Amino acid sequence: MEIETPKNVTIKGILGMLMASIDDEKKRLISLGMGDPTAFSCFTTTSVAEDAVVDALSSHKFNGYSPTVGLPQTRSAICEYLSIDLPYKLSPDDVYITAGCTQAIEVVISVLASPNANILVPRPGFPIYELCAAFRNVEIRHFDLLPENGWEVDLDAVDALADQNTIAIVVINPGNPCGNVYSYHHLKKIAETAKKHKIVVIADEVYGHLAFGSNPFVPMGVFGSMVPVLTLGSLSKRWIVPGWRLGWLVMTDPNAIFKNAKIIDRLKKYFDICGGPATFIQAAVPQILKETSEAFFTRTLSILKHSSDLCVKKIKDIPCLTCPTKPQGSMAMMVKLNISLLKDIKDDIDFCFKLAKEESVILLPGLTVGLKNWVRITFAAEPSSLEEALERVKSFYYRHSYEQNGSVDP
Ligand SMILES: *Cc1c(COP(=O)(O)O)cnc(C)c1O
Ligand SMILES: *[C@@H]1O[C@H](CO)[C@@H](O)[C@H](O)[C@H]1NC(C)=O
Repeated sequence: MEIETPKNVTIKGILGMLMASIDDEKKRLISLGMGDPTAFSCFTTTSVAEDAVVDALSSHKFNGYSPTVGLPQTRSAICEYLSIDLPYKLSPDDVYITAGCTQAIEVVISVLASPNANILVPRPGFPIYELCAAFRNVEIRHFDLLPENGWEVDLDAVDALADQNTIAIVVINPGNPCGNVYSYHHLKKIAETAKKHKIVVIADEVYGHLAFGSNPFVPMGVFGSMVPVLTLGSLSKRWIVPGWRLGWLVMTDPNAIFKNAKIIDRLKKYFDICGGPATFIQAAVPQILKETSEAFFTRTLSILKHSSDLCVKKIKDIPCLTCPTKPQGSMAMMVKLNISLLKDIKDDIDFCFKLAKEESVILLPGLTVGLKNWVRITFAAEPSSLEEALERVKSFYYRHSYEQNGSVDP
């Protein structure tokens, strides 16, 4: 079967196609393609969060509409939660509640859009930015993340791309799909670059605090006094509840460089037309943020660290795959594919489809996140599943390589 390289593929679209191509019933399907950790039983939320939702629901107080910008107590709780890590204090009015981080992306791009506008997004990146920008007729300009430099932003490229019509630069940290966690120093340089070009920073911190390597997580809002930062986040990843659809969009702009009456009016109007998360989920947030134990977070981080280390180790045994930078955070990493070592594989798409068909293992083709001949591996998986999946990738490699069964000389 010849698979055409799909154009404008979405992650969900291609994963659906990969899933449909699985026909080997002897092997258990292992998907390392999706970013939904709840598929694996070692990733469960804390009972504190579930109890908070049950309490909110059974109080009978949260069956009505919430204000479109979010419940006041929810805004206050998120304001407190984020202010802890900032050198200034946010106001609850800076916080807008959204249906997951996805809606925060949609809102921010829709509100910033204007005729001839362009936006700077990372490559590889998170395709929702491209989809939203295209929908709002905002031109997309890609700057590269540098694999050999811990996937840091190519700031020279940003300088070359930005012009008077640039509305924002998107920074995803900790990063999906690369697993990067940027240093304070690098974030500061990004902030300085954005300031120079007078553009706002859209800081996607949906993986905020999910850092397990040597760099600690530093929120971009730390540089909010230098450059306006629109911080996006959600409960989805840190609390492992992506289905709850609870996110936020926060103006981390203490000097009000960007936030002004006009923008706030536009934001509020936009919230009046799009519905946010269910009121009882919003109502549970103060209790969730206050009562989740440090032990829950530590446990998640230790599983992620263990599984990412395991992934890096197993990849070393698969000659056609290399991992230029060890992941330090989030739940995914990018791995480079050396196609020239494989005798009958055309590209990353072909690799992932044949792998799905022959081994019932799903990896995400790099093309879907902007990098041809790379693959994204989600390591938020049971270590035993990861180990088995990568063993199967290894046998797949030997079946399709010029080498014979692991012997070095062809
Ligand atoms: C998962 C993810 C989102 C979407 O988060 P939700 O809260 O599930 O909507 C946004 N950005 C990145 C980088 C993500 O990985
Ligand atoms: C792919 O592997 C070949 C053989 O080991 C090597 O010569 C080549 O440099 C590799 N290519 C890349 C892009 O790593």
